Order: sequence, then C-alpha cells, then structure tokens
Amino acid sequence: MKKKIALVTGITGQDGSYLAELLLKKKYIVHGIIRKSSSFNTGRIDHLYIDPHNKTNFYLHYGDLTDSNNIYNLIAKIKPDEIYNLGAQSHVGVSFVNPEYTSEVSGIGTLRILEAIRFLNLKKTKFYQASTSELFGEVGSKKIFDEKSNFVPKSPYGAAKLYSHWITKIYRESYGIFASSGILFNHESPRRGETFVTRKITRFLARKYYGLEKKLYLGNIYAKRDWGHAKDYVEMQWKILQQKKPDDFIIATGKSYSVKEFINEACKQIGFKIKWQGKGLKEIGILNRNNKKEVFIRIEKRYFRPNEVHFLKGKNFKAVRKLKFKPKYSFKSLIKDMLISDLKIARSEMILRKNDK
Ligand code: NAP
Ligand code: GDD
Repeated sequence: MKKKIALVTGITGQDGSYLAELLLKKKYIVHGIIRKSSSFNTGRIDHLYIDPHNKTNFYLHYGDLTDSNNIYNLIAKIKPDEIYNLGAQSHVGVSFVNPEYTSEVSGIGTLRILEAIRFLNLKKTKFYQASTSELFGEVGSKKIFDEKSNFVPKSPYGAAKLYSHWITKIYRESYGIFASSGILFNHESPRRGETFVTRKITRFLARKYYGLEKKLYLGNIYAKRDWGHAKDYVEMQWKILQQKKPDDFIIATGKSYSVKEFINEACKQIGFKIKWQGKGLKEIGILNRNNKKEVFIRIEKRYFRPNEVHFLKGKNFKAVRKLKFKPKYSFKSLIKDMLISDLKIARSEMILRKNDK
C-alpha cells in the first residue's frame, strides 16, 4: 500500500515533535518545515532524524509561514495527503510585544497554506489547524467551553488564532477543502518550551533541588488552566483528520487548576515544603528545607499580561464520543513526567559543573 505523506509546520516545537513520532510509527512519510536559525533548533526531533529506520521517511525543509512563495512551492513539491499546521508564534505574553509578527505567522500563515491547497487544486489534501482555548476568554457565568461557545479572544495571539480558525472554516465551506480545527486547551510535557509557566516551574524546582538556581519569579499565579499532556493531544490531531467529514473538536481534560495549585503539587512531588505568605505583588513562596526557611518564589509585575484569560475549562464530550478521546495522563502524572525529565537534565548539569571545577 502507498504510504501516506504528511507535511508538518512547527515540527521543531513541542507538538510537532510528538506528532512526527506518532506519524512515523504509523508508517507515514513525514515532511517538516524548519526555520533557519543562528543556532540548532532541532533538539526535539534530532532523535528522529538520526534514526536509520527513518532515512527514507523523514525530510526537513527550510521554510517560514511568513513566506508565501516558500509555502506554495513546498506544498506543490510534496503534494501531501495531510497537512498539520502547528507552526505559530505561540506565546501569549510575547504576542503583546510582537502583535504584527504574531498575526503574520499565527494568522495569515494559515491563509497562505489554504491558498496553496486551493490554487494547486489538491482535492485530496486534508488540512489540520492548531486552534486554541485562547479563542475563548470570556469571564462570565458559563465557565465550561464547548464547540458552541462564543469566541472572545483577549490577546493578539488569540485574535490571530481566531482569524486562522475562521478562515479554515470558510475554506471548508466555500471550496470543499477537508479542513478541520482542533481547539486544544493547554497541553504540556517534558518538551514544553521553557518560558511557558508549567515548564518554567518544573525546570526551576528541579534546578533548585540540585542547587543550580535560587529564586523563581512569576506573574499571575491565580490564573486557572485545563492542563493535559501533549502526547495524548497529538493523537487527537491525527484522529481529527481520519474522520469521514471535516469538523472542529475541543480537546480538553475537563479539569482546571490554578498556577499556584500546579506549584503546590509539583513541590509535593519533589519533596519541598512550601508555605505561602502575603498578597498581590507581595506574595511569596517560602521553602522550608533542612530546618532552614528561604523565600524561593516571588511575584513580579513584568510577568503579568496587559489582558488575561483568567479561567479555562473545556468540555470534551464530542471528542470522547467521536474520537474516542481517553487521555492517559492526569494532572498529577503530567507533573510527574515533567519533573522526572527536568530532574534528569538538572542532575547532568550539576555533574558537568562539578567536573568543570
Ligand atoms: P511551540 O512549541 O511554541 O512550537 C511552535 C512551532 O512553530 C515551532 O516549531 C516554531 O519553530 C514554529 N514557528 C514559529 N514561528 C514560525 C514561522 N514564522 N514559520 C514557521 N514556523 C514557525 O508550540 P506547541 O506548544 O508545540 O503548539 C503547537 C501549535 O498548537 C501552535 O500553533 C500553538 O499555537 C497551538 N496550541 C498550543 C497549545 C498548547 O498548550 N501547547 C494549545 C492550543 C494550541 P522554532 O522551533 O524555530 O521556534
Ligand atoms: N508564561 C508565563 N510565565 N505564564 C505565567 C507566568 C510566567 O512567569 N506567571 C503566571 N503565568 C500565567 C499566565 O498569565 C497564564 O495565565 C498562565 O500562567 C499560563 O501561561 P502560559 O503557560 O504562558 O500559557 P497560556 O495559557 O498563556 O498559553 C498556552 O496555552 C494556550 C491554550 O490555552 C500556549 O501554549 C498557547 O500557545 C496556547 O494556545
């Protein structure tokens, strides 16, 4: 049987790397778009590239979602059966600093792909758009979001993603393109970027454990998120494109925890006794270790955003019913997975530092 061909934008990111693994396991030929960077940016997929089993199944191409010709030429050459558009400037906080660039990549980038599919008349190509719970953001009585909830984005990132979500729907309805969106709530993993809050926390705690770091500075620790594991979620991205008809799906756990609850659980798992004191910018986390008390978490104004989505919780009923969504990871086992990995990394750094002395 002819192998399916997939094209993944954002393959060097958290989701892209897990999705590439999954697709290769399913015997796809995987093409990924990587950006030119001044230092290596393929750390999450190097293991796939050097694996001899993938020699004729895994290809990387330089490209950028801001470059229409490049996107068009790649799609014309590869003629993929499935396109997964995971590439984005994906940091909400950064989108307030780089709103125009964020719109170009996370908004218009999607249009560039859809236009290429349309111009090239690729009738069989299926398209997946990485939509997000940041499309929501209403603080009201309706606290659990589903596929019918109103979109009220609160950030330039959310607005760019709303454009992508809507243009995907428009191309589906206007041109009959198999174009679907997964509206994914926050999902994390040991491969999560270090500036997202969960990884910032687990990485810090692991480094603190080995004496590599003193203090952690955070913003709004009362924001609540519906946190799942990226491994569970990329499987749903694939399943969404295996449906008979294109459609949109919420992927969420249905449980919501605050950043502070995440810290408390992570501290418990690593064996740190934490006590909180104070309020607002004066709130501090105190670590009680070996009978010594030390302020190790502080709140900093610069990590607050000009606008915030305070509460996110998703209703995953449609995904459970149609995609047979059954996440393997819980809030606790997600944190455990991240801590184990970060402890390993911190331990290696500690040994290296000792050997350097
Ligand atoms: P991520 O780790 O930040 O990865 C983003 C990817 O996009 C990276 O490979 C990055 O390349 C690439 N990229 C950035 N700018 C680009 C450009 N101009 N042209 C081409 N590629 C570009 O994000 P993620 O967590 O894997 O998320 C994957 C997708 O799902 C994103 O679209 C994100 O917005 C969306 N999403 C994520 C979540 C979540 O909780 N993780 C939830 C909902 C939706 P470099 O490696 O070179 O930077
Ligand atoms: N990044 C960060 N850094 N966030 C902090 C910090 C900090 O120091 N302190 C508190 N927070 C709060 C943020 O204000 C936010 O309310 C929450 O922690 C989560 O922040 P992030 O981890 O940056 O994720 P996000 O929810 O803003 O966005 C992620 O999830 C979206 C889906 O809802 C990203 O992955 C987006 O790409 C994704 O679409």
